[in-house]
Amino acid sequence: MHAHFERTGALTELSSYPRWAQDLVSACAPAKQSVVEHDIWPLMRENRLDAAATRDFMVGVWPVIERFPGYMALNLLKTRYGRSPGENMARRWLVRNIRVEQNHAEYWLNWAQGAGVPEREVLNGSSPYGTDALSNWCEEVSRGGPLAAGMIATNYAVEGATGEWSQRVYESAAYAEAFPKAIRAQSLRWLQLHAAYDDTHPWEALEIVCTLVGTSPRPDEAAYLQECVKRSYVSMRITLDRCLDVRRDPWLSEQAVLASEAAA
Ligand SMILES: [Fe+2]
Repeated sequence: MHAHFERTGALTELSSYPRWAQDLVSACAPAKQSVVEHDIWPLMRENRLDAAATRDFMVGVWPVIERFPGYMALNLLKTRYGRSPGENMARRWLVRNIRVEQNHAEYWLNWAQGAGVPEREVLNGSSPYGTDALSNWCEEVSRGGPLAAGMIATNYAVEGATGEWSQRVYESAAYAEAFPKAIRAQSLRWLQLHAAYDDTHPWEALEIVCTLVGTSPRPDEAAYLQECVKRSYVSMRITLDRCLDVRRDPWLSEQAVLASEAAA
């Protein structure tokens, strides 16, 4: 039976949400930490991420950046106005927030460019092995999963963890100062927008999911939603792991040749 959920406590307090959602957050915490505390962030903060890993990061994460409003659109298609309070909330929120994503792809390309990875490489370069784990999963759950699953996997899990890692990188003065002053602000715009100082989006997504499934979903439904969130975090972690693998590709060899020619 669907037991209606209506939030009474603060939006950003976990205690405002049903028991099953609190259990989900604690069960998924280790997987989330493996993203937020990934080895790639200190390397980036300290300016020690080499050109190969920087290129793989910019190219490997790009499909999710480019496609994110598309995932939201796929979830929007599942809503019908008037069917339930949760669907009304989801519809309203998705319509509004798809627009917020409008310039984010362009800002990612600016970040990549500033970090030494040209746009043509991000758009056409081959993705490192396994970095499609996250984009494939987001596509699958947004296209074929229930509305609650699609939103909890993307707008709650991916956006929430991204807000936390973005903040870690954005706070690094050493990282910011490595960008030439003339392009610093535009290069860091994506990070600035995603650094979750007072970002309420993941909480709003959680509230919508709780409104959709109520205070006492069936155990299998709660377990499934938990699994969706874990899959998002694990896919993010795999994508980041692959960016740190040492590998050689034609673009990098070409860059090395150009660098040695310039030095000669
Ligand atoms: Fe975004």
